[in-house]
Amino acid sequence: MRMSIKSSTFAAEKDRSMTKEEQYQELVTQVASVVAGETDTIANMANVAAILHEAFGFWWTGFYRVEPIVESQKSKVERGELVLGPFQGPLACTRIPYGKGVCGTAWAKNETVIVPNVHEFAGHIACSSESNSEIVVPVRLNDKVIAVLDIDSKEFNTFDETDQKYLEEIVNYLSGGTQTLQ
Ligand code: SME
Repeated sequence: MRMSIKSSTFAAEKDRSMTKEEQYQELVTQVASVVAGETDTIANMANVAAILHEAFGFWWTGFYRVEPIVESQKSKVERGELVLGPFQGPLACTRIPYGKGVCGTAWAKNETVIVPNVHEFAGHIACSSESNSEIVVPVRLNDKVIAVLDIDSKEFNTFDETDQKYLEEIVNYLSGGTQTLQ
């Protein structure tokens, strides 16, 4: 089963005649298969980042997890920060506070944020000077944001409603695992 998932990933990557929508439709099926065989959310995030990164050749593809706060911290802080999770691409910032940057904004708003030009987004956190556009999609468990999927592109205007629709569908598969997260 693992073999067929892998070979179809490469098929999607190589077939440049496919539209973005068709590529995503194939990837949704692959993600569903991969996640069905594994209950660990972090392992599944790692494979989702790899599948998306390889298929589309993004600059950076990965997750930031909402850091769980321990009982003893609860009287002092309302929430933790986003902390770097599984990713593909160059070195990235480790922590992002609530409401900061594109990732912290998507977390605070609990909605997908598409940024056509990161240089025009007030408060954008530039982990890499090569990034020019970005999409951040919340990962939810019982309506609560437990992580965000962050994708950066070297091109401007890379992401649109098609990316939003399918990436939101893909991250839904991450909410069914055993929660070592919140
Ligand atoms: N640009 C993001 C920071 C994370 S990196 O792009 C990997 C932000 O503004 O939140």
